[in-house]
Amino acid sequence: MNIQISGKQALSVLYSEKEIKKRLAVLAQQISFDYKEKDLVVLCILNGAMFFFTELVLKLNCSLKVDFIKISSYEGMKSSQNLKVHLTPQVNLRGKDVLIVEDIVDTGRTIKEILLILEKSRPKSIKLATLLKRQDSSYDIDYCAFSIQGEFVVGYGLDLDGNYRNLPYLATLNPSKETSLT
Ligand code: IMP
Ligand code: MG
Repeated sequence: MNIQISGKQALSVLYSEKEIKKRLAVLAQQISFDYKEKDLVVLCILNGAMFFFTELVLKLNCSLKVDFIKISSYEGMKSSQNLKVHLTPQVNLRGKDVLIVEDIVDTGRTIKEILLILEKSRPKSIKLATLLKRQDSSYDIDYCAFSIQGEFVVGYGLDLDGNYRNLPYLATLNPSKETSLT
């Protein structure tokens, strides 16, 4: 499916940069408290979680290490059955308290795949922080910044076929009005 978007009119702001920062400060406070006496490794799921991860980690007031996983599942606005793993963590996770940082949990398939990979390294605990989750997702999330409905979201790291990641806010696309599907 080839999607053409005519300029910025197709985007409407869902959460502004200010709203995101305010919410992440609260989330970071909670995570810092929970991980005070732990051996924390924060894992960024690339590419979508990159800005959420950066903002969150800079706000965490506890000792930690960082590492990265790169996995992709989406083609256009559709979740693909083919999950591709491009990069796995290099830090030794054995006995560590791992916090996965994801952009959005939709079906939960990506996270389940990541858990299978991480469990092989025998960490002490694994928790999940996500910027967005869909309200109808039954997946259990430890730290969630915002809950959304079925809309497709871009910005603040989230993309549509690699575009829009650099928007400093979260926005929805309105395909029925300003985009034409060809
Ligand atoms: P899941 O595997 O179905 O939970 O899908 C999660 C992954 O799909 C996320 O890591 C995102 O990369 C992508 N995704 C799901 N919904 C959206 C969206 O609204 N915008 C951008 N990416 C999305
Ligand atoms: Mg992602």
